[in-house]
Amino acid sequence: STGVRRGDDGACEVAGVDVRELAAEHGTPAYVLDEADFRARARAYRTAFATAFAEVGTGVDVYYAGKALLTVAVARWARQEGLRVDTASGGELAVALRAGVPGAELGLHGNNKSDAEVLAALDAGVGRIIVDSLVEIDRVADLAASRGVVAPVMVRVTTGVHAGGHEYISTAHEDQKFGLSVNPGVLDGDGGDPPAMRALLAVVARPELHLLGIHSHIGSQILDPAGFEAAARVVLRLRAELAERTGVLVGEVDLGGGYGIAYLPGEVPLDPDRIAKDVASAVAAICAEHGTPLPRISIEPGRAIVGPAGLTLYTVGTVKPVALDDGRVRTYVSVDGGMSDNIRPALYEAQYHADVVGRTSDAEPVLARVVGKHCESGDIVVHEVMLPGDVRAGDLLAVPATGAYGRSMASNYNLLTRPPVVAVADGASRVLVRRETLDDLLALDLG
Ligand code: LLP
Repeated sequence: STGVRRGDDGACEVAGVDVRELAAEHGTPAYVLDEADFRARARAYRTAFATAFAEVGTGVDVYYAGKALLTVAVARWARQEGLRVDTASGGELAVALRAGVPGAELGLHGNNKSDAEVLAALDAGVGRIIVDSLVEIDRVADLAASRGVVAPVMVRVTTGVHAGGHEYISTAHEDQKFGLSVNPGVLDGDGGDPPAMRALLAVVARPELHLLGIHSHIGSQILDPAGFEAAARVVLRLRAELAERTGVLVGEVDLGGGYGIAYLPGEVPLDPDRIAKDVASAVAAICAEHGTPLPRISIEPGRAIVGPAGLTLYTVGTVKPVALDDGRVRTYVSVDGGMSDNIRPALYEAQYHADVVGRTSDAEPVLARVVGKHCESGDIVVHEVMLPGDVRAGDLLAVPATGAYGRSMASNYNLLTRPPVVAVADGASRVLVRRETLDDLLALDLG
């Protein structure tokens, strides 16, 4: 889905640039980002949600979730396509600000924000700080008071809706660290309010805080729209309840990110037009049931914007056939990166596809596993894929759909240097983030 075009001679182009040229110029491994594809996805989400919610009578803000991949250029692209930027740390905030995104178009998340991060957000005039615990509410209020400002906040609630691709990326069930539960639990004793309601009341009670709205993020890599509607139902009920009890009707509801993409050939991603229509009509119907006016809606897609826009380019090294117990042979194809540039297979058992690019082959395909160069047997890039039987050292290998959570979760394990992020557009490539060097690594070690 990146602008990848394959020719008869095996040539493979991304946005008009031959991968062999990319490898020669930038080296491997390299993250390659198709700028036009990123922009098209950003536009598709913004237009789909703006249109669907305009039809039911309210507006939408789309925040690009920077955790998926944030560089100065990427933040600029998002903004130029009409998106705001959601950050989850002082680091992400700093990159967005350097890109020139106005504070008012930024959000700050985090279950354990430091005072310095909250102050940086207040000083930048961020549009919203999403609070995640009762103790944080008082802390943010005190920090706002110390700066003489009123902090705009949203309260992140957990709706009990369980959705998403893997337990580690599912965030709205009860037994995990994020958000404030809408369910009364043992914490509250008899008749007490659940943590979510207590948090909303606590925000309303502090004059240094302005309660913008309620936030819910149910998980990631979601392919079934039902979860978003179920979460919207819970959040909108809470909103109506708060209005009944206090007269405060919050103006905004954020339904989070989590829109699933295709990682493998043949997989079907969520269609933004369809999901937007479904969610908009559900939100309108639920508000009508409660007799409350529609809130402004916001969403925070990360993966769906940048994931399919990126691929990783590797060079093949060692190729080693291994006999399996069942009599089959698996060809282990080692590449020059691995779990340090893509931790997702090891962390979530994430599945990817791979192609030998830049040459043709008539060889029979063989069962292959693409592995990295780290000292760990779980260092797998692609668990199972058919590759040409003559796959050999020096071949270029492309792994698609690595734009999200590859570079952003990269490490220096085994002291590998992190790959560059290279953007391609209109037949030309440009380095957005340069490759780390051994000098970069050595400079951090003070002996
Ligand atoms: N908003 C909030 C509050 C989030 O926690 C997240 C993801 C997003 C938005 C964006 O979700 P997306 O649209 O990208 O699915 N590292 C994992 C995913 C963890 C995401 C955590 N939060 C992965 O590689 O799959």
